[in-house]
Amino acid sequence: MARRKKIYEGKAKILYEGPEPGTVVQYFKDDATAFNAEKRDVIDGKGVLNNRLSEFFMVGLNSIGVPTHFMKRLNMREQLVRQCEIIPLEVIVRNFAAGTMAKRLGIEEGTALPRPIVEYCYKDDSLGDPLVTEEHIAAFGWASQQDMDDILSLALRVNDFMSGLMYGVGIKLVDFKIEIGRVYDGDYQRLIVADEISPDSCRLWDIETGRKLDKDVFRRDLGDLADAYTEVARRLGVMPANATPMEKPKLIN
Ligand SMILES: Nc1ncnc2c1ncn2[C@@H]1O[C@H](COP(=O)(O)OP(=O)(O)OP(=O)(O)O)[C@@H](O)[C@H]1O
Ligand SMILES: [Mg+2]
Repeated sequence: MARRKKIYEGKAKILYEGPEPGTVVQYFKDDATAFNAEKRDVIDGKGVLNNRLSEFFMVGLNSIGVPTHFMKRLNMREQLVRQCEIIPLEVIVRNFAAGTMAKRLGIEEGTALPRPIVEYCYKDDSLGDPLVTEEHIAAFGWASQQDMDDILSLALRVNDFMSGLMYGVGIKLVDFKIEIGRVYDGDYQRLIVADEISPDSCRLWDIETGRKLDKDVFRRDLGDLADAYTEVARRLGVMPANATPMEKPKLIN
């Protein structure tokens, strides 16, 4: 069998050419990085968990009419996705203050925000993904006004879906980041949710105990990252095939 062509290797994933034109295979690695890759480690099983969790979230989004790049999972670490032109923005939605926002504005972590706040960062590792405004985005032509309207509505729909899903299993969705891609259907183009949605790209806090179940466990040395991600997967009823069976998700009151 011919070796497949590697398109890109990032910090957390590798992209390979897919079997059909317009498709790519996303391979989820076990590598964890934080602070623009200044801190790094290999966490056994992280890639398997993120592959499963991203599949679970994207299948759910597709089923409620929020378009995503997800096509199908191929194996423990790989999924087939629709190839798209990634808009060079990290779209961040925040429900509670945390991380850079808490620091920048001097708000205590965990403070509920008056409403979901959407932020945009320019995707450029050499610059540390700086925060930008819609003015920058329009002036530099990274996205049109129509794109920005679509991005905002996708981001808020993802937020409502993910917040509700997490609330149902006793987890607070503090914030998350998504990437948006452009695809072409004949003469038409549209925007879809791309990349991944996983505990690497969300802040997830246990509602009762406040335990962190996301990449902050790694960033802040709070314990075993794979344990935290496994807990998220267990509560959602999403587990790697080789794991022990779990209870179905139940509503926490
Ligand atoms: N459907 C898609 N089509 C094309 N590219 C995609 C798609 N989904 C995600 N990508 C891109 O694939 C790469 C995934 O790799 P990874 O997340 O490891 O990158 P990274 O190290 O975070 O770097 P980057 O700054 O490029 O995101 C990212 O660059 C992401 O933008
Ligand atoms: Mg990435």
